Amino acid sequence: MTADTSLSTALDRAEQDHAALEAALRGHLWLHFTRHAAIDKGAPVPIITRGEGCHVFDDRGRRYIDGLAGLFTVQLGHGRSELAEAAARQMRTLPFFPLWGYATEPTIRLAERLAAAAPGDLNRVFFTTGGGEAVESAWKLLKQYFRLTGRPGKHKIISRAIAYHGTSQGALSITGIPFAKVPFEPLVPGTVRVPNTNLYRADESFAGDAKAFGRWAADRIAEAIEFEGADSVAAVALEPVQNSGGCFPPPPGYLERVREICDAYEVMLIADETITGFGRIGDTFAMNRFGVQPDIITCAKGMTSGYAPIGAMIAADRLFEPYRHGTTMFPHGSTFGGHPVSAAVALCALDIMEREGINEHVRANEALFRRTLEDLSDLPIVGDVRGEGFFYGIELTKDKHTRAVFTAEESERLLRGFLSTALFDAGLYCRTDDRGDPVIQLAPPLIADASLFDEIAQILRSVLTEAWRRL
Ligand SMILES: Cc1ncc(COP(=O)(O)O)c(C=O)c1O
Repeated sequence: MTADTSLSTALDRAEQDHAALEAALRGHLWLHFTRHAAIDKGAPVPIITRGEGCHVFDDRGRRYIDGLAGLFTVQLGHGRSELAEAAARQMRTLPFFPLWGYATEPTIRLAERLAAAAPGDLNRVFFTTGGGEAVESAWKLLKQYFRLTGRPGKHKIISRAIAYHGTSQGALSITGIPFAKVPFEPLVPGTVRVPNTNLYRADESFAGDAKAFGRWAADRIAEAIEFEGADSVAAVALEPVQNSGGCFPPPPGYLERVREICDAYEVMLIADETITGFGRIGDTFAMNRFGVQPDIITCAKGMTSGYAPIGAMIAADRLFEPYRHGTTMFPHGSTFGGHPVSAAVALCALDIMEREGINEHVRANEALFRRTLEDLSDLPIVGDVRGEGFFYGIELTKDKHTRAVFTAEESERLLRGFLSTALFDAGLYCRTDDRGDPVIQLAPPLIADASLFDEIAQILRSVLTEAWRRL
């Protein structure tokens, strides 16, 4: 057999393997948040088989930049055998034991470690399997806490427009994305929406004054509490930098004002750090960076760098206080919450983050990442570039000067019909999101550097130029 024929045989085999996988996928796999009609009609679904550093590879060997760290998770990059070994070691030692009245060594150590990294007196760690379950746990905890402390009416949660907090019925009720909620109504009663902090879409009267806009947005929370009655409101839940809608950072003074309002009305502040935790904003928790003390942090995703699933609700000491007495308990939990293998992987990931100075790396490079993306602002379709740390959104517009928004049909054509496929075909996996106005989101692994930022920007420039031409 010549070299040519053996190569073509290998390629044929790879194509056959791909065809078999695709057939099985079409026959059996139900993808999350995915329209299956197009797939049934033959639209390709990328099959990702392996990762290395900031890149992933599909089953045909094509390489892509992982511009979203999986789903805001793979902080340390792909292919770290040290993390795989930590999992294997724990699996060999003790593959599983629940946290129902028993403890495991990695969960004890991880709880201690998370409490040390969390701001102030957030010392009590309740493990879950992910972020939504952590949000769900926080809401349930507060409902019970206020009953135990003589204020049973305090049960409502205030959250922000377009914010995503998970898909279980409680977390979904807190979520502010109508299309994800409507099919499942009626949901859990007692949630209220307030404005988010999208300065780009703020009323013209603010004239770009971030501080004034932040004050206005925070005061809408006070207004909502007044309207609902403080006796009925348990908490405000917000992300330090809101993901859905396209990376809204807190305007200066906003989080401080929210804290003040929460204190004034005895309302708890839940910082949902499912995305912003574990280095994404240059600290283990973004609230440390912003210098505002929440009462609860919910977190997940990056805790293990995505190598195993785990989440946590980290509560202030006083929220645990009622549970120190008599027969009181928090009647809540799950089989896999705080899985020992995931906890062992999380400990190893935190070790690596510390050893390699990942938070310091993000802080040292965030300005460069921002500048590299801001350079795209000369493109007519780029309306706004915003974010913090290694977490950015690029909002697209029809008209830079008027900030005209796309119609639903244009947005569908632009994002689903062109951009998401074109960016991927050009070698960049990232997120095109139309839950608010159309945005492209970028959150590469936290080991990314200048050369990766440049590569990302080059692909964005060429694909966005073509998108504008097609409009
Ligand atoms: C802010 C926030 N909260 C909660 C969740 C839900 O997390 P999970 O998918 O782990 O349940 C997400 C997921 O993206 C999130 O971004």
